Amino acid sequence: MSEKVLEIKNLSVEYNTEIATIFAVNGLDMDLDAGETLGLVGETGAGKTTTAKAIMRILPEKVGEITSGNIVVDGKDVYAISEAEMCNIRGKVVSMVFQDPMSALNPIMTVGDQIKEVIRIHEKKLTKEQIDKKVDEMMELVGIPANRKVEYPHEFSGGMKQRIVIAIALACEPKLILADEPTTALDVTIQAQMLALIKDLQRRLGTAMLLITHDFGVVAQICEKVAVMYAGEIIEYGPVEKIFDHENLHPYTIGLFRSIPNLKVKTARLNAIDGMMPDPSVKLHGCHFAPRCKYASERCKADQKMIETEPGHFIRCCRFDKEQGGSANE
Ligand SMILES: Nc1ncnc2c1ncn2[C@@H]1O[C@H](COP(=O)(O)OP(=O)(O)OP(=O)(O)O)[C@@H](O)[C@H]1O
Ligand SMILES: [Mg+2]
Repeated sequence: MSEKVLEIKNLSVEYNTEIATIFAVNGLDMDLDAGETLGLVGETGAGKTTTAKAIMRILPEKVGEITSGNIVVDGKDVYAISEAEMCNIRGKVVSMVFQDPMSALNPIMTVGDQIKEVIRIHEKKLTKEQIDKKVDEMMELVGIPANRKVEYPHEFSGGMKQRIVIAIALACEPKLILADEPTTALDVTIQAQMLALIKDLQRRLGTAMLLITHDFGVVAQICEKVAVMYAGEIIEYGPVEKIFDHENLHPYTIGLFRSIPNLKVKTARLNAIDGMMPDPSVKLHGCHFAPRCKYASERCKADQKMIETEPGHFIRCCRFDKEQGGSANE
C-alpha cells in the first residue's frame, strides 16, 4: 500500500465576518500519496486557497474556522498538535508556494538570507558552512547563479522571484508542496519554464504536490490526478486521462471544458456556463450545481454522494447513481 502524505476527511471551513458567515469549504475529502501530483481546479471562490490554508493551519485568526473534519499530514493530525509542533511541520514536511511571489518574499532581506532562514529553522544539526552550501545548491537548482544570493527581491524579474519562492519551499525537501496558482502571475513563456522546473524538481526529490490552478492545460501537463471543486465541494475526482477523455463527466466539468477556447473551431462567442456560483453565505443542501444544470431534477434536492463510475473516477451527481435510478454512464 502506498504511503499517504495527506488525508483530509469531511473538512468544512467557514469565515465569520461582521457581515456574514461564508461557507467556503463544505465536507471535503482528499488524499494524496507520496510523490503524487493532484491538480485542484475550479472557478474563482470555489474554496481552493481556503483548503490549502487549512492544511497549513494559516487560516485568518478568529475569522477562519474549521467546523468539521480533520487533516492529517504525514501521519500527524494538524489540528491536534501545538503551534510549536506545527512550526516544525511547515516548511519541513509541507510547504506552500503562494500565487504572488512579491508578497511571499521579504523585500528588505536578501534572497540568500530568506532561503537560509528556512534551512536554519528546520535543519538544526547543520553547521554554518553546510547551510551556506545548501543555499548555493538551492539557487543553482532553480537555475539562478549562487553569487546572486546577496541581492534583494526587487533586483530579480518576476519569473526569477517565483524561482526563489520555489527554492524556499523546497529547501528542506518537504514531502508535500501546496502550489497555489504558482504560474498565474507569470507570462506564458516563463509559465512553461516554471512548470517544467517544478515537475523536474518534484521528480528528483519525490515530493507530492497539490497544484491549485484555473488552467486545465497546466493540469494536463503535470498532474496525474485531478479534483474539480465547485462551491466548496469536490464534485469530480479521477486520473487525468479519465477526465480528459471527456466521457462521462460531471455536468460542471463538461461546462469547464466547453469554456476553453478551441483554436480549431471558429466560434463567435466562448461557451460560458449559464448562471452564477451560489452565494457563499447561504448554507447549501442537495447538489450545489443543480441551479445551473440542464439535467437538474427533483432528485438533485437530496445531498449527493461521490459515485465511483469506473475504477478511481468519482462523480458527485445522481445521474451516475444507479441506486437513485441514474443512467448517465450506460
Ligand atoms: N479572509 C476571508 N474572509 C472572508 N471570506 C473569505 C476570506 N478568504 C476567502 N473568503 C471567501 O471564501 C470563499 C472561498 O475563497 P477561496 O479564496 O478559497 O477561493 P479560491 O477557490 O481560491 O478562488 P480563486 O480561484 O479566486 O483564488 C470565497 O467566497 C471568498 O470570498
Ligand atoms: Mg485562490
